[in-house]
Amino acid sequence: MTQTAAAAPLATDPLRDHLAGIDLAALRETFVAQGEFVAVPDFLPAAELDALLDARLGELPALEPRVHRNFIPGHKKGGSVSRYELDAHAPAFPAFYRSQALLAFLQHLAGRPLLHCPPDDPHTYALYYYTEAGDHIGWHYDTSYYKGERYTVLLGLEDHSSCKLEYELFHDDATRAAVPGAVSITPGMLVVFNGDKLWHRVTPSAAGERRVVLTLEYLTSLGMHPLRRFVSNMKDAIAYFGFRQVFSGPRRS
Ligand SMILES: [Fe+2]
Repeated sequence: MTQTAAAAPLATDPLRDHLAGIDLAALRETFVAQGEFVAVPDFLPAAELDALLDARLGELPALEPRVHRNFIPGHKKGGSVSRYELDAHAPAFPAFYRSQALLAFLQHLAGRPLLHCPPDDPHTYALYYYTEAGDHIGWHYDTSYYKGERYTVLLGLEDHSSCKLEYELFHDDATRAAVPGAVSITPGMLVVFNGDKLWHRVTPSAAGERRVVLTLEYLTSLGMHPLRRFVSNMKDAIAYFGFRQVFSGPRRS
């Protein structure tokens, strides 16, 4: 695997060195045993997390007004920043997404080659902000609208909240009992799962709480039927980023 120029803005050697010290075989065993789900506390070395946080905090005055608030009664409330805004205003995040060390780690974990999303997918990487009382998302799958699998990667950036990622392993597996679990996505924690397999939600935040998570999406196929692309874009426009971002983002960036 070759190093790409896209990974250059964020030093990847500390991450690669750190990942080399992880017992990947054991982690993959857990990932497989849990139906393609794993949470890795302290995944990101302090230097790498600081690099991301410094970039974000340094650009926060420009980035925070770009948070798109959304509210779907009975299902979801929160803020999101799309890939187009991150491309334009916080390049450390796209650089992290394209890190070859991270991709190699995820491919070992998934046991298969993974692909970056196409440039017109607003959910390729994004920030989720829970900053108001009652911010949450109800039970759902991260459905893949692509022809292959969709892997969701969550990285904790800030967590001054009582929010939990609650999940049920094997929710749709008729051959075994579901296994419930919950985790706080603390700064530096990495969560990786197959979006079509993990039934999950995030519990509501309380007044005065604050939680910021980076989400990344990796695929096994770039193919998508145009109708499913439309459905995916509508979901992203309504539930996450707004119509302006989703339907004019690629052109603006
Ligand atoms: Fe989700």
